[in-house]
Amino acid sequence: MTTHDNSTTLTKLADTFGTPLYVYQQSALTDAYRAYTDAFAALNPLVCYAVKANGNLSILKHFAALGSGFDIVSGGELARVLAAGGDAGKTIFSGVGKSEAEIEFALNAGVLCFNVESLPELDRIQAVAVRLGKKAPVSLRINPDVDAKTHPYISTGLKANKFGIAYTDALAAYRHAAALSHLNIIGIDCHIGSQLTDLSPLVEACERILLLVDQLAAEGIMLKHIDLGGGVGIVYDNEEVPDLAAYADAVAKLLDGRELKLMLEPGRSLVGNAGVLLTRVEFIKQGEEKNFVIVDAAMNDLMRPALYDAHHRIETVGGGEGEAFTADVVGPICETGDFLGQNRRLACQAGDLLVVHSAGAYSSSMASNYNARNRAAEVLINGSDVRLIRQRETIEQQLANEQACLASQPQPLADN
Ligand code: LLP
Repeated sequence: MTTHDNSTTLTKLADTFGTPLYVYQQSALTDAYRAYTDAFAALNPLVCYAVKANGNLSILKHFAALGSGFDIVSGGELARVLAAGGDAGKTIFSGVGKSEAEIEFALNAGVLCFNVESLPELDRIQAVAVRLGKKAPVSLRINPDVDAKTHPYISTGLKANKFGIAYTDALAAYRHAAALSHLNIIGIDCHIGSQLTDLSPLVEACERILLLVDQLAAEGIMLKHIDLGGGVGIVYDNEEVPDLAAYADAVAKLLDGRELKLMLEPGRSLVGNAGVLLTRVEFIKQGEEKNFVIVDAAMNDLMRPALYDAHHRIETVGGGEGEAFTADVVGPICETGDFLGQNRRLACQAGDLLVVHSAGAYSSSMASNYNARNRAAEVLINGSDVRLIRQRETIEQQLANEQACLASQPQPLADN
């Protein structure tokens, strides 16, 4: 969304729904999804949107209507997918620490498969499947040991990361799985990191995973699908990002006639640039060394700058009046790390609206109640129509779980 074309709309949205406000554009969600299905058309992939990027029910519902599957990492995300009308049969369950209750929920719901990350997890899924008298479809997440060359906190495909089964242990892990009565081995997967700006690690991971597919086939373990995870980066500032057509071409060449269904788990690249965060300037403060633009959004609404030193473009809606000056854009939270941007050139004054770009992914989904702040509202724009897709949280909602306990008496801990 470019601010200058949309300043009237953004001003009206802020006046109607208040700030901070996440604003998403439906056409941008559709375009991003179609960019995948078009680029990979020859391979007819199942695109499984990674719910963690933005789990808003209306966004999930939109992707479900486009035909998307889902990648989930918790029972809570499965509940979201089901509540949005998503298809469990197109949902894959990733994550290193699935609880028994989550496995049971997913098996009963009929998920497409579990992306399994360790031997103890295989054993746990087997035990739950035995108890329920079901066969659990599984894929093993293999750590291909390639460097995604991204921020260390969002790099997952190196030996040192907690994710996946070590490449050198992969064959033994498949043999272990094959010996378990209630597992149905259907696939292999990897996910090497997020916000990748270079295509080569994605291609290298695919190559390494396919070597395993062939070794497994030679042992009689025939897989039905390969899932290459997510990770394709987006433009936040001026970075180069992988070209989907080039990615698809490279994968098609590597798959080379094998009968393997391709699955992908994009998150950020489907929603990141479909959303912005609108925030109002409360005060301009001149510090001794720096100027501060104090806004009503904070690290609890967008924690990426504090956590990863991430850059989000920030502009004044309508361009702003007066001379531009350099300032840190900060929130009201009592932390020095509470900034949305540092050393930005902006023309703005108290009362102006700022738009923080590329806030569709890992923004509302990572929001918290720190400093007892209510979570912001979210709206979805479709052409000239707008729909509130999450009400602004109220302080009553925040307090309810604790208020219910205020009058309760301490109890002795029961031995059971
Ligand atoms: N599949 C798995 C197993 C994942 O762990 C992830 C992201 C994805 C798919 C989606 O990756 P994407 O296409 O969005 O890159 N909070 C961080 C990003 C953490 C990503 C975690 N896993 C951020 O704000 O940059």
